[in-house]
Amino acid sequence: MIRRIALVHIYSCSAALLEISFMEEWINGLILIMLSIGHAELWVTFINRTHALPVHEPLLKKTRHVTYFMILAFPLFLFVMVGLYSPGVLRGGEWSQLSFWWKPVFLLCTLGFLGLLVSVFRHLFYRIPRLQTESQSEIINVRERLGQTLIGNGPYHYLAGLPLNEIFSVEFSRKTFVLDRLPTAWDGLKVLHLSDLHFSGTLTRDYFCELCRIAQESKPDLIIFSGDLVDEMHCLDWLDETLGQLQAPLGRYFILGNHDWNQLSEQIRMSLTRLGWIDVSSQTLRLEHAGHSMLLAGTEVPWMGQHPVLPSQLGGESADFLLLISHTPDNYYWACSQGYDLVLAGHTHGGQVRLPLIGPVFAPSVHGTRYTSGTFYRKSTLMHVSRGVSGIHPLRWLCRPEFSLLTLRSGE
Ligand SMILES: [Fe+2]
Repeated sequence: MIRRIALVHIYSCSAALLEISFMEEWINGLILIMLSIGHAELWVTFINRTHALPVHEPLLKKTRHVTYFMILAFPLFLFVMVGLYSPGVLRGGEWSQLSFWWKPVFLLCTLGFLGLLVSVFRHLFYRIPRLQTESQSEIINVRERLGQTLIGNGPYHYLAGLPLNEIFSVEFSRKTFVLDRLPTAWDGLKVLHLSDLHFSGTLTRDYFCELCRIAQESKPDLIIFSGDLVDEMHCLDWLDETLGQLQAPLGRYFILGNHDWNQLSEQIRMSLTRLGWIDVSSQTLRLEHAGHSMLLAGTEVPWMGQHPVLPSQLGGESADFLLLISHTPDNYYWACSQGYDLVLAGHTHGGQVRLPLIGPVFAPSVHGTRYTSGTFYRKSTLMHVSRGVSGIHPLRWLCRPEFSLLTLRSGE
């Protein structure tokens, strides 16, 4: 009888030990996965920051290839060298037995993982500023509307046909902003904000013609284009039938973006100017309307020109309302320091691909994914970041293309 009890005891102890060892392996495996994710986040951070700098596309393309390789190769290396190689932590080994050189690597990966958590929390807890009082959306399926495939032979055209791609499902967003300094006489001013058209031949001319036609039907008072017009110079011919068709009583104003900088930017600038669009890059322009003045300014920093200098800083007269067009949202803090009332930006495309819960991952910004799209308010400056109409990569997952009609209301 005693012998039998002892056997049962030994059996239950070894089962418990086996269970602990099994649990340890699971936990160790989980730690290795978290370290791999943290490592990927470090490379994403690197790629986001390098794409925010004035670096030409061929070099950026190489950095992207290195990044993709490292993101895929590191987990394999980690699991083989740390997890499986005898006596790896997945085979009953101890973390303390690992070489000293793994410690700084693990520390960096842990920091990367924590950084990702911060981004995810920021995405989940993003709140629209109270100054945006209304928001409506209309989803326009351009493909169904026109009954065409709308895919040309441009770069990366194979991406356009991927399942669940939302590239042809455009969101026409209508937002209302209440702005303290907007003169009462301008209450209800309608501003059409277009950004990132990226003419490349991948999406056909008809796609952009249709969007411009819809945008014009909203009868804006003022039209703003915040950069990235052309990725292939032969598409410059499309301007007449697209942006050339837009009209607004208070004018059409533009700046260029980093993709235009990679092309013949001066030729693009001249073509738009010839169609009556007004270039506000690196300068300020006074717009008089209903007895009040608006200062319209533009910046293509860090790719071209310099930040505009306000007339008041040169001893000149200020204006009732200051509007800045900036290709990248990275100029937001500078705009706040200058006292701009409204900033209209694009460039980040909303991240283009958004993961459920996690949100956007890639965004060419020094702030990472913080300002990928939406409305932001800081000090006394409101910024609207458009997700843009297109991109050199015709891929949108959980991140529809966008153009916006912004109604400005006076807070007085
Ligand atoms: Fe862009």
